[in-house]
Amino acid sequence: MPAAAVTVRAPAKVNLQLAVGPARPDGFHSLVTVYHAVSLFDDVTVVPATRTSIKVRGEDAATVPADHTNLAWQAALALAASAGLPDRDAAVHIDIRKRIPAAAGLAGGSADAAATLVACNELWQAGLTPAELAELGARLGSDVPFALAGGTAVGRGRGEELTTALVSGSYHWALAFSATGLSTPQVYATCDRLRAARAADTGGASPAAEPELSAALMTALRSGDATAVGPRLSNDLQPAALSLQPDLRRTLAAGREFGALGALVSGSGPTCAFLAKSPAHAREIAVSLTGAGVCRAVARASGPVPGAAVVPRGAPS
Ligand code: C5P
Repeated sequence: MPAAAVTVRAPAKVNLQLAVGPARPDGFHSLVTVYHAVSLFDDVTVVPATRTSIKVRGEDAATVPADHTNLAWQAALALAASAGLPDRDAAVHIDIRKRIPAAAGLAGGSADAAATLVACNELWQAGLTPAELAELGARLGSDVPFALAGGTAVGRGRGEELTTALVSGSYHWALAFSATGLSTPQVYATCDRLRAARAADTGGASPAAEPELSAALMTALRSGDATAVGPRLSNDLQPAALSLQPDLRRTLAAGREFGALGALVSGSGPTCAFLAKSPAHAREIAVSLTGAGVCRAVARASGPVPGAAVVPRGAPS
């Protein structure tokens, strides 16, 4: 690896709660969510170059754009502009090693953007503070500030306004990946459509209620008791994801049958997340899901884990 290379590792997230309110005038939905960073990571390495380029390797690499439309590329541009770097000094080669599937509801693109912000800040010794990085990140995507922060946090606004959540213990997950991705805007639009149809059926046209944080979930998370957390997991986007990928019902049912304490679609999906009693139980669920043939692939992960952070040189990959 070149002497000046910087590698940053950033985590995937699952949403322990995703309460979606009405669409705002800017098209985003107001929401309250409980983000939870899990131990499934993308690694982003940046190296000085004569012009900016990007290479994507690993999980779903073929479906991720390797050009200026990649959020990581935009993150490098945003950081250079914010640091006042002249163009000739701001070119980097961005190498993304993906383990987080794309279009999966796990915020993999946001993780890559967050990792690139941290990596370029280090490479260029730009000196932006965590708050400044979060502000830049929020302009790139709603989930980017959380990928920088990690841990477990409540997100408000469109997801970018974070407050740390008090959580005890570690939570163990089996993740079931779907054969095809879902487009986040399409899932939100489907959510609106399903709500409008339901309102029409019941004779009312009232707008969606303002989202509220689940006090019961927060109490369960403070207790550190996964059996109390499981039944309190919730996702308002789940009906929309299930209507777009009806097979996910089978995946969720299989995980529950294999003893998951809680089962839900992560974010806008289609990844299904299953809360387990222990790492061994997460492995059992993952093996059983594979045997049942209800998903493309499985992974195990635990959380909470830290947000985007520089990988020390010589650390195992
Ligand atoms: O912020 P991000 O770029 O990840 O959002 C992707 C898309 O998801 C938005 O363009 C919008 O359609 C939808 N979205 C939303 N409300 C949010 C977050 C995302 O409608 N709070």
